[in-house]
Amino acid sequence: MTDEQERRERQLVERVVASFDGTPDPRLRQLTQALTRHLHAFAREVRLTEAEWQQAIGFLTAVGHITDDRRQELILLSDVFGLSMQTITINNAAYRNATEATVVGPFFVADAPLVPLGGDISGGAPGQPCWVEGTVTDTDGRPVPEARIEVWEADDDGFYDVQYGDDRVAARGRLVAGPDGSFRFWAITPTPYPIPHDGPVGLLLERTGRSPMRASHLHFLVEAAGLRTLVTHIFVRGDALLDSDSVFGVRDSLVRDFEPQPAGTPTPDGRDLGDRAWSRVRFDIVLAPR
Ligand code: BEZ
Ligand code: FE
Repeated sequence: MTDEQERRERQLVERVVASFDGTPDPRLRQLTQALTRHLHAFAREVRLTEAEWQQAIGFLTAVGHITDDRRQELILLSDVFGLSMQTITINNAAYRNATEATVVGPFFVADAPLVPLGGDISGGAPGQPCWVEGTVTDTDGRPVPEARIEVWEADDDGFYDVQYGDDRVAARGRLVAGPDGSFRFWAITPTPYPIPHDGPVGLLLERTGRSPMRASHLHFLVEAAGLRTLVTHIFVRGDALLDSDSVFGVRDSLVRDFEPQPAGTPTPDGRDLGDRAWSRVRFDIVLAPR
């Protein structure tokens, strides 16, 4: 590149950065100026062609067009670039033995029906029964009584209840931990499923040879007064997708043994599962201070 070319490109970046100098809100100034620097650095690094710029605009337009109240393709785009996970990582700073956070995903529904401790969240969703138990404590090991625990997961066919569009509530529930911080419930053994991939983000994954599959997981949102709200999942040890989760949500510390229990194995609460095999998992949750 000639010196003159270099000078023109640099000068343009500086002029755009300077255009935000008068932003009254210092945080907005920082965000717009840093974004300008990084966007220009990207375009200059890859020597972005005009045709590629057009294509990118077309792609982002398609992402916007498919987005509505039920489908959030922009978040999906952030997810597959790992930006959602990076933002979560930045904002849930490592603290002693506190449980790690991961992506919330598009299928959380606030205020799911209350399920008593030991109850079944499956609501008839197809899948193998899974007994889930654990405790909620703070980072000093003190039990957190009556923590609010929301759990949700996909069924064996790879769908969340909200994807059926018929208002059913299944594989989702809200629990309240006991006075000793303990919780237990029946769910279904998590299985892998794809993120929505019939839109522009799916096309991007296809064109880049990436899979839309998420590693099998069970979502948790845990809230208790004075403690940092935790949004996380647990993953299934041995799942072949642990290293290629499409939204980079897997953390080693969140992988759990879902122990297979052959049909006929007595259940923890005496429930009769007939000739069905089941599984069990333990997840002890540690909440960081606020
Ligand atoms: C999920 O785990 O539900 C999910 C997360 C990110 C994108 C799509 C789905
Ligand atoms: Fe999920």
